[in-house]
Amino acid sequence: MEERKIMLNDAEIPRQWYNALADLPGPVNPPLHPGTGQPIRPEDMQAIFPMNLVEQEMSPERWISIPEEVLDKYLLWRPTPLRRAINFEKALGCPVRIYYKDESVSPPGSHKPNTAVAQAYYNKAYGIRRLATETGAGQWGSALAMACRMFGLDCRVYMVRVSYDQKPYRRMMMQTWGAECIPSPSDRTQAGRNILAQSPTARAASASRSARPSRTPSRARTPAIPWGACSITCLCTRRSSASRRRGSSRRSASTRTWSSAARAAGAISLA
Ligand SMILES: Cc1ncc(COP(=O)(O)O)c(C=O)c1O
Repeated sequence: MEERKIMLNDAEIPRQWYNALADLPGPVNPPLHPGTGQPIRPEDMQAIFPMNLVEQEMSPERWISIPEEVLDKYLLWRPTPLRRAINFEKALGCPVRIYYKDESVSPPGSHKPNTAVAQAYYNKAYGIRRLATETGAGQWGSALAMACRMFGLDCRVYMVRVSYDQKPYRRMMMQTWGAECIPSPSDRTQAGRNILAQSPTARAASASRSARPSRTPSRARTPAIPWGACSITCLCTRRSSASRRRGSSRRSASTRTWSSAARAAGAISLA
């Protein structure tokens, strides 16, 4: 019988992150500051990252040791299975072996806890008590909610309103891990208040929804908010309805600048 999955045991879990930046042919272009358009400086990144994470983000080291407290959390679901896609190979009908790393075995069901757990650890170590973030479909939000719970941090997640209404299970996962989940746009941030001020329909939608218990997710399509009003919220809202029509999901450029910085922290992936 062909072996379909390769499992490492706990003792074989890698104890260092591999930093691919160390092996790239040359330095990568620095992320640009969304306000100035200039290459981001370490002190700029402190707006969203504690300095211990900024230092790691900028590190040229090939191998970075994984703190014991992080390894201890990883072992809840890692090492994850390396699976062989035998049926896909048969479908292709050519002599290749295809393997994939199954990250769906993590408690929130994606690869995102790999970085969320590390980020929560370093924030806690730096004295941060609460983390706030955004989420669209809820994968990132639920990963960070779990990680914050693991390290005793408070967590606030702004969730795109259409997902907040139509994906209550992801919202409940975040709330079960103790996170505060806020439908966005909301009157809790200046950006949200600006959007609500500009869009009477969004204001009406937020008023009616916050008045009604959110147990019954509405089927009503969230009204389109003027393009560019607030890039993250608009794109996710439009994308979700558009992607339903197209059946695809693409990540938009405008959310890249900051979240690429976030993901860069995840670029230091497990070997
Ligand atoms: C920081 C961050 N936010 C949001 C998202 C979007 O995912 P989700 O819609 O599941 O939150 C991602 C996905 O890569 C992400 O990394």
